[in-house]
Amino acid sequence: MNTGGYTKLEIFARAVQPGGKIRVISIKNSRQEGAVQERASALENCREVLVESGYYRWLKLPMEQDTEYEILCEECQVSLCYLSGSEDILETGVCYLEQEQEGGRFVRADQEERYHSPIREAYHFAPWKNWLNDPNGLCWFQGYYHMFYQFNPHSQQWSHMYWGHAASKDLVHWIHLPVVLEPQEEILQNPGEQKGGAFSGSAVVHEGEAVFFLTRSSGPRVDGEDTLQQQWKTTSRDMLHFSEEKLVIDRQPQGASFDFRDPKVFRAEGKWYMVLGSALDGKAAILLYESEDLEHWAYTGPLLVEHETGIRCVECPDLMELDGKYLAVGALMHHYDSWGRYQMCRYYVGDFQDGIFTEEHRGWFDFGSNCYAMQSFEHKGRRISIGWVSDFYGEHLELEQGACGSMTLPRELHIRDNRLYAAPVRELESLKGESLYRGQGEPVCLKGICPNTYKAELELEGNIPFSIQLGGDEERQIMLNHDETGLYLQTKGVKSESVLFPAEVDRVEKLEIFTDRRTVEVYVNDGEAVGTKLFYDISDQGCFILNTEAAEGLKRVEIFRMKSIWTKRR
Ligand code: FRU
Repeated sequence: MNTGGYTKLEIFARAVQPGGKIRVISIKNSRQEGAVQERASALENCREVLVESGYYRWLKLPMEQDTEYEILCEECQVSLCYLSGSEDILETGVCYLEQEQEGGRFVRADQEERYHSPIREAYHFAPWKNWLNDPNGLCWFQGYYHMFYQFNPHSQQWSHMYWGHAASKDLVHWIHLPVVLEPQEEILQNPGEQKGGAFSGSAVVHEGEAVFFLTRSSGPRVDGEDTLQQQWKTTSRDMLHFSEEKLVIDRQPQGASFDFRDPKVFRAEGKWYMVLGSALDGKAAILLYESEDLEHWAYTGPLLVEHETGIRCVECPDLMELDGKYLAVGALMHHYDSWGRYQMCRYYVGDFQDGIFTEEHRGWFDFGSNCYAMQSFEHKGRRISIGWVSDFYGEHLELEQGACGSMTLPRELHIRDNRLYAAPVRELESLKGESLYRGQGEPVCLKGICPNTYKAELELEGNIPFSIQLGGDEERQIMLNHDETGLYLQTKGVKSESVLFPAEVDRVEKLEIFTDRRTVEVYVNDGEAVGTKLFYDISDQGCFILNTEAAEGLKRVEIFRMKSIWTKRR
């Protein structure tokens, strides 16, 4: 394995036997003339790093550039391993290494193979492997969009939290960057008794720096009064190095529950504001803080208290000025709606003055309910949001090298007539490939679309009824139906089949449907509603089967193949 321009090896490892170790042997430096060494003498260039047993430790080892190495691990397990530290890492990303089946040597991983798996998305961002939840610290900084995310590098389930990191120049193609934050030392030492880590947070760019706020959560495995959630701050000038974290809010205000997390910071009315998710006297709430200097924060009171019962707390709140109004969004923990949908994000449109929010209208952020913990940021006048595509109905298929969790497509937000509109960002047009179908006034039956990654665009007239099968076969299906009850997503033969996913629209004139293997996103009437739904299918054979008894109302139907966002890197 040759390091090329990389200067660091990062390994997440734990010993399975005392004495477990990683051996790093440098074989040949291709830059130094005549430095070709025999295997025997190369052993002098062997470093042995002892690995602790217990929880995974994040080891960072300096490496020579352009050098051939052999990396082996003995009696230890490695969950994630990559090369980093190259000068142009924001362009190329890290280089993932995988262990060969035979011999256990680490080699550069085959990206193409990984991204061609039918069980992971081709044009939605997902981690290289294992678990992802909320987007964190979204911002644009010195030429790149940055996305951090809740990450468990060790398995496909939620556990103690790290922050993963990715960057993009166009909001479409992403590169993976080194992990940024890890759980607190006390959690790494007692992973079985403790729970927590670097929980969600946000970023603002101020005076040439990115300033991050996040929650550090700790406490026993079962949440309760001993759970401690505190708000911390860190900064970066290059998005690769981060300052030592500083505690900025050490406890929740009186009356607020131990759920007290996910700081989202923004500027309005000449001040810095922070919203935090919590519950006040048993009711889910968004709490508001203000600051002059991003350092000292004062609690001003609740921004809003959700009067609907059955919600443990608000998670990942957001508040922004948008089209002359204010938009607040909250993820409703443990909430079920009357259709059986679990954990939706609710939006609230209203006014915000002197720290007081007055609600005028509320609705669902995403009617598919597989979109949670959305976060937004502003760049060049656009308000862009990304949400976590969350498996709330236990439908994930855990396959080797798979990833559980991905991000929604970036959406541009607007308020029109006091309603939220969320449309896919225009940059996504660049992913449209070959046209698979173009027509009007007739039913459509496309089967065997392979790979199962397409976009369908429909223009409709007369509010006609229709049914569209977007995936599956006779037994297992995902459908988008429009009938006298309205427009809704529905599944059959999978765990979410007893739930209905209706959109809050009273007519359907335009649809943009993104099918990306296991993930479907439906945008209605230029963003009047959007629904995200997971539908696992390991065949990679897609379909688009549209039936209607009023085909004359189909003014345009066009289906494009969608390209992958993962291009080959060195
Ligand atoms: C929402 C959430 C946040 C928390 C994070 C932990 O999905 O529960 O409230 O910060 O995930 O991973």
